Amino acid sequence: MAHIPVLLDEVMTAIRPRAGGLYVDGTLGGGGYARAVLAVEGARLVGIDRDPAAADVAAQLRRLYPDTFAFQQGAFSLMEQIVELSGSDGVDGVMLDLGVSSMQIDEADRGFSFQKDGPLDMRMARSGPSAADAVNHLDGDELAAIFKVYGEERHARRAARAIVEDRAETPFESTLQLAGMLARVIGGKPGRIHPATRVFQALRIYVNDELGELVRALDAAERILKPAGVLAVVTFHSLEDRIVKTFLRSRAGLTGQGSRHAPEVHTGPAPSFSLLTRKAIEPSEAEIAANPRARSSRLRAAVRSTHPAWPADDDGLPGVPPYSRLLECVR
Ligand SMILES: C[S@@+](CC[C@H](N)C(=O)[O-])C[C@H]1O[C@@H](n2cnc3c(N)ncnc32)[C@H](O)[C@@H]1O
Repeated sequence: MAHIPVLLDEVMTAIRPRAGGLYVDGTLGGGGYARAVLAVEGARLVGIDRDPAAADVAAQLRRLYPDTFAFQQGAFSLMEQIVELSGSDGVDGVMLDLGVSSMQIDEADRGFSFQKDGPLDMRMARSGPSAADAVNHLDGDELAAIFKVYGEERHARRAARAIVEDRAETPFESTLQLAGMLARVIGGKPGRIHPATRVFQALRIYVNDELGELVRALDAAERILKPAGVLAVVTFHSLEDRIVKTFLRSRAGLTGQGSRHAPEVHTGPAPSFSLLTRKAIEPSEAEIAANPRARSSRLRAAVRSTHPAWPADDDGLPGVPPYSRLLECVR
């Protein structure tokens, strides 16, 4: 299935691409956002995606926009270095549309789907440790923490224990092998989400270091955006949204809840952003009806000020083994 871009009009309204402007799309995917930016005559775009499959979309865009489009395969946390390589000293907009594309989910051999049999892979970049590595090598407490924090799975401990028992007999290799086991130990009621949903989400986030990538990318975007440049981020679950919300609110100098009686008092460095909207923008009913994948999407956007970027944030999430632990266990 082709990827239908989510909140496209809302992202373009925030970014306002214009002739002569330079923009970064950190999640090129099917190129939906990229096409909308490049359709504005004279707008230039650097596309980034860690998935080698995005190179095909990039090649099409290069043919259509040879003078205004460039692509780099890699992690979006490296956008600062990628923009530097392109010889620019700053950008006018950064877009991030997080998570996986429909193409990635649809292809069984990528291992993202618990409904199709394929290798237990889930690596967006097709390199580094896979979901099978995590499931077969991390210890039970580590797996339970990942399922609980990244999947908000109520039966995290039960699922982790069953994995550790089963893998002693037969290591996990395929998506349906894991999904079937989870259906047995977690169970679930008909009509509810598949019992493997949360564990698969947790493994995907962990294997791709998705939240660490996001934290580093927000810091990098803050450094490369020019004054009046716009950062627009579309998230798909509460963990991502909380990171973006906390980052933008702190950078905008809005540290507390604030109220009529106790206005927010700002004490940190001068605000590096101002919020475009106080609340996250959600998809319309019409968009959700046309594209159910949009249901959980949220857009947050902010405008860069003239003040310097703040020191980078710590990307650790309490209670979850760091991504470096996964690298160690397959070394
Ligand atoms: C939801 S899709 C983006 C769809 C795109 N906006 C469009 O309109 O077609 C997310 C894409 O971001 C890529 N991606 C996710 N995390 C990434 C990261 N940390 N660095 C680079 N690319 C990433 C995925 O490989 C995927 O292709």
